[in-house]
Amino acid sequence: MRPVLSLAARSVTRANFQPRLAPRLFSRTYAMGHTVPPLSDKSLLKTLSYVNGEWVGAASGKTFEVTDPSSHEVIATQPEMDAADTRKAIDAAAAALPAFRKLTGRERSRMLRKWYDLMAENAEDLAKLITWENGKPIADAKGEVTYAANFFEWFSEEAPRIYGTTIPASVAGNRIFTIKEPVGVCGLITPWNFPAAMITRKIGPALAAGCTVVAKSPGETPLTAAALAELAHRAGIPKGVVNFVTALKNTPEVGEAITSSPIVKKVSFTGSTNVGKLLMKQSSATLKKLSFELGGNAPFIVFDDADLDTAVAGAIASKFRSSGQTCVCANRIYVQRGIYEAFAAAFAKKVESFKVGGGYEAGTTHGPLIHDRAVSKVESHVTDAVKQGATVLIGGQRLPDLGANFFAPTVLRDMTVDMQLAQEETFGPVAGLFSFDTEADVVRLANSTEVGLAGYFFSKDVQRCYRVAEALEVGMVGVNTGLISDPAAPFGGVKESGFGREGSHLGVDEYVVTKTVTMGGVGPLQT
Ligand code: SIN
Repeated sequence: MRPVLSLAARSVTRANFQPRLAPRLFSRTYAMGHTVPPLSDKSLLKTLSYVNGEWVGAASGKTFEVTDPSSHEVIATQPEMDAADTRKAIDAAAAALPAFRKLTGRERSRMLRKWYDLMAENAEDLAKLITWENGKPIADAKGEVTYAANFFEWFSEEAPRIYGTTIPASVAGNRIFTIKEPVGVCGLITPWNFPAAMITRKIGPALAAGCTVVAKSPGETPLTAAALAELAHRAGIPKGVVNFVTALKNTPEVGEAITSSPIVKKVSFTGSTNVGKLLMKQSSATLKKLSFELGGNAPFIVFDDADLDTAVAGAIASKFRSSGQTCVCANRIYVQRGIYEAFAAAFAKKVESFKVGGGYEAGTTHGPLIHDRAVSKVESHVTDAVKQGATVLIGGQRLPDLGANFFAPTVLRDMTVDMQLAQEETFGPVAGLFSFDTEADVVRLANSTEVGLAGYFFSKDVQRCYRVAEALEVGMVGVNTGLISDPAAPFGGVKESGFGREGSHLGVDEYVVTKTVTMGGVGPLQT
């Protein structure tokens, strides 16, 4: 692999792609001219971590490589930090806390607003970095930058409005009121699938509340995080308030340094359920406040009475967003028997129009998966389903001519409950279509999983819309829409998808503690 340390334009030409299993449904060729555009502001590309307002390396001097999932080329290196480096970042956050928490909500609001403005001004460059290290098409990356920046805008508006309450006391002469105080130093651990938005969704409310943070950058996508750190610096966020720790191989060690630190009072994590369980166990010794957004296995239900085009568009948006690599992507698509054939045909036809390729290539609608482990999981779900009787309508195979991380957007029909895809989140571009007969049956099937993040259904029957929305065991329901992510909407799950809500008017609650003040002996006015 060749290290590429500048963002000078380069090109990688790929061989044409001839699909193997379903040629009739795919475009015939994927001729690739893969050009990485240069950043307008090259100083946004950092190869160091941001701690206590300074750019630093790991004390050991070790680094890890960041690779482009499309081309497998090494883009840059980042410090491979360890537990000792992490503790320095935690100390910096602790030192910054007393002054930062004393600022008024309005002062913190202005800082977040400035950071938001800088993200908007540098949106093109941030999007280029996201595409480069994550692989998603540049149009999606631009969408992510907007989504991410909007969390800063939203929480800049919440910061001055963190209200306590006054409570009528049971004891005559007493007066009770509450104050919302920052919980303290927060450890934030985020994934690679939204290199910007998952970070801003946590830092926004933390800073609004008056907390200081140590954010562990995603190992696969640390460059976007580093660019955000640079913008924090330019926005005048005081030193030590926002710190980024980078690691790839040392991620478990860094995670444990955060969860075991008595200084860190809160951990917010987005990632897999298994890692969430581990972090929760590690955090128990110091009884931290926690919020976890973990894995999903979203049911997506199409009733006979749904509008077909709306349901197909919703399924495409929900299933194939980021090539299926989001926690809220549809995973099990249940279609009622009366509409099944029409839905399957229309859905596969839409998938046929996708253009898979490098994220910068004109017209690319879907990029690569993040790494080979992701491709192997997707492939095993397809192989297992086909072995157990599913039919491939389109796709079904790797796309080696495009690169090792590419997998064809796939639609499978005749899925059954024993298949791997029915049991666990695929996190990739494979849509499995199940059929069902009754509302009661499909709700039972939809809820037959340990996780409950998002669920979707399509119907024109208003009573059914209420009934099913209430019956689904998930934290978020999309009714007649496949896209539910919005900074204004509470985001989070139930069951083993975690707890806590991000974004929205509830987001700040995860970063504050309520202090109750009871004043005695006030008594009535003596006349
Ligand atoms: C996630 O995949 O965890 C987040 C998706 C979103 O915010 O829409």
